Amino acid sequence: MPIRFRSGECIPLEMHKVRMVQRLNLLPVEDRVKASQEAGNNTFLLKNCDVFLDMLTDSGVNAMSQDQYAAMMLADDSYAGSETFYRLEGAIKEVFGDVHFLPAHQGRACENIISQTFVKPGQTALMNYHFTTTRAHITRNGGKVVEIVRKEGLEVKSDLPFKGDVDIPRLRSEIDSIDAANIAFLRIEAGTNLIGGQPVSMANTREAVKIAKDAGILTIFDASLLSDNLYFIKVREKEFADKSLNDITRELGSLFDITYFSARKLGCARGGGIFTPRKDLYDAMLGLVPLFEGFITYGGMSVREMEALAVGLRESMDFNVIEQTPLFVDALARELLAANIPVVTPAGGLGCHVDAMEFCEHVPPTQYRSGALAVAAYIAGGVRGMERGTLSEDRGADGEDRIAEMELLRLAVPKRVFTLSHVKYVADRLAWLHENRGLIGGLRFTFEPKILRFFFGRLEPVSDWPQKLADKFRKDFGESL
Ligand code: F0G
Repeated sequence: MPIRFRSGECIPLEMHKVRMVQRLNLLPVEDRVKASQEAGNNTFLLKNCDVFLDMLTDSGVNAMSQDQYAAMMLADDSYAGSETFYRLEGAIKEVFGDVHFLPAHQGRACENIISQTFVKPGQTALMNYHFTTTRAHITRNGGKVVEIVRKEGLEVKSDLPFKGDVDIPRLRSEIDSIDAANIAFLRIEAGTNLIGGQPVSMANTREAVKIAKDAGILTIFDASLLSDNLYFIKVREKEFADKSLNDITRELGSLFDITYFSARKLGCARGGGIFTPRKDLYDAMLGLVPLFEGFITYGGMSVREMEALAVGLRESMDFNVIEQTPLFVDALARELLAANIPVVTPAGGLGCHVDAMEFCEHVPPTQYRSGALAVAAYIAGGVRGMERGTLSEDRGADGEDRIAEMELLRLAVPKRVFTLSHVKYVADRLAWLHENRGLIGGLRFTFEPKILRFFFGRLEPVSDWPQKLADKFRKDFGESL
């Protein structure tokens, strides 16, 4: 909750206290260089014991409440007809309205089921913006993705409050040129991940969905990042200032034919699910759940996680709970901007996104600017961020790198995990890195998988720049870690 101090400064005060802790290690800078090398200079491959602040993702690593832990003890471990399933289904209905619910083990499992059911070879899926696993599942089923986010969504600096919104004229023209029969669906992603956790507005979503429905096109909502998006609808969209989060959620949910989510994000547990008000769509997907996930009353999730999810979904309707991440992202973005570091603005949800295109403009784009910045941030502060740029793209059919539209280093802010001094520490080390950015060099692959190469790919620096960066760190910070 933003609280005013005597100086006039507003502080995002934590409305929770910490009652269970995990020890952190901050390795000396020389060991961070070594750990990065051993991890193939890919932050996905770092061991967590070598990481000080794990800002890789908010997926499955959010803090759970005492009520979530307590609920886990009530789980009913039966294969079929588990009481736990009915409690989770009840929570979904309470939060989203009267829908049919299919459990799945995580968000991409929902994408697998949806893509297998609704994408025919040659069809196009229209969407505000893709997520890595979403596009992989659609193309795996012979479809292709066309992105129709507003042009401001791809601009790093903007004052548009809803940069994830669909470009409505573009949606109309794509429907005219592709022909509705060749469009698998329109997918709208809440809290648009890859462009910096940018929200969609209710007004734009209503309009886009109506256009698609009028043309007979199926509409799908990815609600994985819904809680951040709800916060922004409430604080940035006038019509909703006095509406409850549950009212906003029900309206959003009611617009779409199908909604799915990663419960590693929404609901602060580990799992996922698909729901729909339409029985015919539920029936079309039903058969794939036991085939890929597990029986229909657990769908690959542990019953304990399902109990935690049911509580977590209800807690996501509490403003004090959901505002913590956007407020911390905003606090971090302000500190970085004050140090002249280019970040995506307005600050969105999920995490703070540093613009590596500008931060590392001296590094050639084919040497993976945001990947290099991720390595440099780890060396500078033991901070593990995630590359969201060219490395996260697969190569084109011609074998060349597809240079991403945005080169971002994502510093995720998992829900209620970090303290404000952590935020200040990250800002300090990045400010130092920015002053010394000339020392950051490029990366090249030594091992490059074909699909989703960012997960397992290994890279090497094009020179001994990580060592030089560490030497400068030692010189400037002396004995300090
Ligand atoms: N959709 C969105 C918008 C996501 O952000 C994610 C995951 C998924 C779908 C897939 O869900 O991981 O449960 O299979 N995003 C994570 C991230 C991985 O780090 O941003 P999942």
